[in-house]
Amino acid sequence: MPFPEQIGSTISSAASRTFNFVVVSNRLPVDRVERGDGGAWQHSPGGLVTALEPVMSSNDGAWVGWPGIADRDFESFESDGAWLVPIRLSEQEVAEYYEGFSNDTLWPLYHDVIAQPSYHREWWESYVEVNRRFAEAAASVAAEKATVWVQDYQLQLVPAMLRELRDDLTIGFFNHIPFPAYGIYSQLPWRRQIVEGLLGADVIGFQRNADAGNFARAVRRILGYSAKGTIIEVPETDDEGRARVRTVIARHFPISIDASGYEKLANDPGVQERARQIRHELGDPKFVMLGVDRLDYTKGIGHRIKAFGELLAEGRLSGEDAILVQVASPSRERVETYRQLRDEIELAVGRINGDYSTIGHQAISYLHHSYPREEMVALFLAADVMLVTALRDGMNLVAKEYVASRVDEDGVLVLSEFAGAADELKSALLINPHDIDGLKDAIMTAVRMPKRDRAMRMRALRRRVIEHDVARWSNTFLEVLGRTQPADAPAVATTDE
Ligand code: G6P
Repeated sequence: MPFPEQIGSTISSAASRTFNFVVVSNRLPVDRVERGDGGAWQHSPGGLVTALEPVMSSNDGAWVGWPGIADRDFESFESDGAWLVPIRLSEQEVAEYYEGFSNDTLWPLYHDVIAQPSYHREWWESYVEVNRRFAEAAASVAAEKATVWVQDYQLQLVPAMLRELRDDLTIGFFNHIPFPAYGIYSQLPWRRQIVEGLLGADVIGFQRNADAGNFARAVRRILGYSAKGTIIEVPETDDEGRARVRTVIARHFPISIDASGYEKLANDPGVQERARQIRHELGDPKFVMLGVDRLDYTKGIGHRIKAFGELLAEGRLSGEDAILVQVASPSRERVETYRQLRDEIELAVGRINGDYSTIGHQAISYLHHSYPREEMVALFLAADVMLVTALRDGMNLVAKEYVASRVDEDGVLVLSEFAGAADELKSALLINPHDIDGLKDAIMTAVRMPKRDRAMRMRALRRRVIEHDVARWSNTFLEVLGRTQPADAPAVATTDE
């Protein structure tokens, strides 16, 4: 049984165990869900967990994170080969550190201020306090000279706090979201503290080369340190008060997916049958377009709906022939900007459906749910055109999931140049989502594209995604990090590629 329902004394007695490999992320790979009949552990949302699970199963590692529920203490426990260390957050910390500073300050700021970031000193204080709690927990489960890998924007102070507590550790950090240009980053009242926090790591990973460049520029401008290529020189003093330089590597490591897992599902006859059934249930339209996103303002869902609506209005697409399926999974629903976005999207969908749906056929099939991976792969197989129109996105794993699922070498990916994936997926139809006319033309190019061209593009995309899968991402990061370890430190096992 993977998750213990009752966490008993046998588990807590092992609480002093230490590990050579520790992952620290805001969320644990499992969320605690309370139901009428008691509590249960469920796999938590987000690509991060999927990305790190294979690394954890290759290493007897520990994972420090929040179980997704406020004001509850849980003992550490074992799940799927990893030792999970739950961190308690109070209701107020969820509001200030998670919903506030992480998702209403850093998230909009790092995504090029698509939404206005809020700056509140109380939120910052909570961010510092919670980061310290994560650092202390990581320090207590890390063995002598262990490797600790800290994840994402919610925990940018952890590397320096951890180094302060344990200078024997090798510390990696990976930022899953963009790092903005200095002109934007410099708005942050705590810009210095965040950069100093990150520089506690030995290796700082970003999605795109441009993100690493933006970070290096911030280091030069704010701290005046030398940052050339991927090497940043951090001046320090040793125990005897002598000046020395510590080297930090900052470079890009584009994240990916478990491509073979998606291929396997896409080759499953049951999933293929489900794909045919989906098309049939949609009324066997000529063209199925698909959008799959967390309901987030960075994803450009409104831009996509607008383009589709205009194509219907102009008669370039007919409501009888075309359907847009939009899966918008619920996200951060207590943050006001997300509530407003939901209202805006649902209003736009309602208008277009009111104008163009018929009794037997909907123009837009809008689904405010999350689905299991099998159902997603069936949807990918059913979709002629995948629309990824993010206004800003660290990577966008959905684009890669679509490509990995198209084992039939068919389907067209329309991809925003503002998603990290655009650096790699060059055979997609690349678009600027702000240019609605350009987006509309790309959609028409996609629906009219001859089968031979579709196959040629999809083959090139598939080569990239299959060769550069998530195992390669984590192995590359851990190899670069491993090279910074002292010779006598325990090595971290890489995963099978
Ligand atoms: C993005 C972030 C992750 C986050 C995920 C889901 O992918 O990079 O750190 O976990 O969104 O968001 P949530 O706020 O629900 O954890």
